[in-house]
Amino acid sequence: MTAERGERDEYPGADGRTSRAAVAKRVEALLARMTLEEKVGQFHQGHNLGDADAADIRLGRVGSAIVASSATAGNDRQERVRAATLNRLQRVAVKESRLGIPLLFARDVIHGHRTVAPIPLGQAASWSPEHVRRCAEVAAREARADGITWVFTPMLDIARDGRWGRIAESFGEDPYLAARLAEAAVRGYQGDDLGDGEHVAACAKHFVGYGAVEGGRDYNTLEVSAYTLHNVHLPSFRAAVRAGVASVMSAFCDLNGLPVAASPDLLRRILRDDLGFGGVLVTDWEGVLELTRHGVAGDGKEAARQAFLAGNDVDMVSGLYRDHLPGLIRAGRVPPERLDEAVRRVLTLKFRLGLFERPYVDEGEAARVQFTPEHRAATLDLARRSPVLLQNRGDLLPLGAGIRVGVFGAAATWRGQLFGTWTLDGEAGDVPTLLEAVRKVHPGPHEVWHTANIDEALDWARQTDVVIVALGETPTRSGEDHSVASLDLPAGQPEMLEALHALGVRVVTVVFSGRPLVLTRVVRASEAVLLAWHPGVCGGEAVAEILYGLVNPSGHLPVSLPRQTGQLPAHYSFKPTGRPLATFPQAYRLSDERDSPLFPFGFGLSYTRFEFSNLWVDPEVPLGQPVRVTVAVKNVGERAGETVAQLYLRDVVASRTRPVRELRGFERVALEPGACRQVAFTLTADDLSFSDETGTPRLEPGEFRVLVGENSSVTLEGAFRLLAEGPQKD
Ligand code: BGC
Repeated sequence: MTAERGERDEYPGADGRTSRAAVAKRVEALLARMTLEEKVGQFHQGHNLGDADAADIRLGRVGSAIVASSATAGNDRQERVRAATLNRLQRVAVKESRLGIPLLFARDVIHGHRTVAPIPLGQAASWSPEHVRRCAEVAAREARADGITWVFTPMLDIARDGRWGRIAESFGEDPYLAARLAEAAVRGYQGDDLGDGEHVAACAKHFVGYGAVEGGRDYNTLEVSAYTLHNVHLPSFRAAVRAGVASVMSAFCDLNGLPVAASPDLLRRILRDDLGFGGVLVTDWEGVLELTRHGVAGDGKEAARQAFLAGNDVDMVSGLYRDHLPGLIRAGRVPPERLDEAVRRVLTLKFRLGLFERPYVDEGEAARVQFTPEHRAATLDLARRSPVLLQNRGDLLPLGAGIRVGVFGAAATWRGQLFGTWTLDGEAGDVPTLLEAVRKVHPGPHEVWHTANIDEALDWARQTDVVIVALGETPTRSGEDHSVASLDLPAGQPEMLEALHALGVRVVTVVFSGRPLVLTRVVRASEAVLLAWHPGVCGGEAVAEILYGLVNPSGHLPVSLPRQTGQLPAHYSFKPTGRPLATFPQAYRLSDERDSPLFPFGFGLSYTRFEFSNLWVDPEVPLGQPVRVTVAVKNVGERAGETVAQLYLRDVVASRTRPVRELRGFERVALEPGACRQVAFTLTADDLSFSDETGTPRLEPGEFRVLVGENSSVTLEGAFRLLAEGPQKD
């Protein structure tokens, strides 16, 4: 992979006025006029601001506002953003405060704004950076039209425990896939020019390790070795920084005995110095105050000191910076240079966003740009690539003409079912339900029946060829603060499915979920299974098109699906151990369950079949040179379709234990029936190296294996030798 460094010579899209030098000059001029209180004011992020906050804004005591009324806004009801309210507050900042510094308005625009896209986990299932980028751009455009200039997304936590509700907000279990999607999302939100009025500042969160909370319990403590931190949890953040992400959010959990928000080692040494991040670092909600709850600070003042010295620039809502930083600076307990450094970053962001030139939003803009046919089309495009076809016994799908179809389940008619967690600005009225969408594409002549009542369903199913069962989780069962102990479907659902199946009717199950649920019983009691995640405003349509073959499914799992909860962790890039399963087949690691997951990472079926052949790998490559890999992909079925060619690497002998395979390349391939294409991958030094526990990249000569195919359990294998100039370690 090649990408620019975080600190570019020039801001992307910069013109004379927004060039790095011009912005720096304006920042210095402003900084020179600021009082200590005004400087500290730039760090204070208020929430749910209203007219009562005007006095503080007038005094320059507020720098930004999160437009949310509670801490877990994703699963709470929130008011829609009101541009008029934001303009009113902005007018106070610009016209009535001494220096007229505009406010930043932030919001959790996590998977779309008014045009709601699939949840991030569902977006990741598309394996399509381009579609993810485009949807981020749509969200940015819509949010900016409401006056939002800063979005707290993308979430780049690597999530390997489906019990953790926030896995819905993640790009899944794999650092490489998450890194590619991180770059795409950042580019989509931020565009080439933050000041063009159509883009917003993105925020890579939660730096770092939050995805590994113990037992998948939200907000829990965690222990992650430095080696794992560097190889698993940091790469997605590194990618976001390289793509120029404007801000990062520190995690509020504690990692290896110190809350991240109080760790200069993580925030200053690793994030700033090693990754080269130069933008704004914001705490998570009350992250400063939480240092007292974690028990590392005795009071709010000490918490403010620790958080600020650790490197957090902006204090999300706790108010402790505002209350204590001026005193701490006057007492010499926080160096003034540190203060100016942080103010510069906040002001720079405001200049780059063009807020000094255009602080207000046109109140008619939202109606013109939100939920337009163009935005719907971009979202539908992504929604069509997100559902994963897990099973299709006897090629039951796609459904043909002339059959009698019933739709069973409340999930088929509830509009909110499609939205997903963190849908703050979507409107239920915008959503065609699955049932409506099925009726639209169903060719007749028989009408599609629907019921949410199991007795009725059992009655009707007898006269039906196929029953589409819509089940799974409601959106609020996943997301923040919504972890679960069991990955099984909610009670009653598998039983209903089994009762239908027992009648001999053919069952197509559509699973809506925000996490990798255990689908073992679903797979047994259904002919076909489509995992639709929470697919967003166009999800009903996308799913119906797939069921009826108007669209060929092409989603692939961004996370392994376990056979049962106790099988966790079920991720694919485990270590060989001293008793590898391949050579010690008797060495089952569990006596009551297989080791393999129900469906491996990367898995996804299509209505056509693809064949991978002619894998060619550069046999010997000098250290530092790229490695070329090619493979032929052929559509050997009868329909046009898209697959994802995936390349996995195994470093056979290294100075540290390395996973049995790791994703190092992928490409979506669209092929007409009978067509064949050669897919080429280039592996760079970055792809071949890993970090040791100090974070130093190690590019070690020796043998590497390359595995290519449609999922992480493929066996088409090649190898190459990375040559050292001196003696080789193996
Ligand atoms: C979450 C963040 C979110 C913030 C603001 C926190 O509770 O962890 O992801 O951005 O709230 O709503």
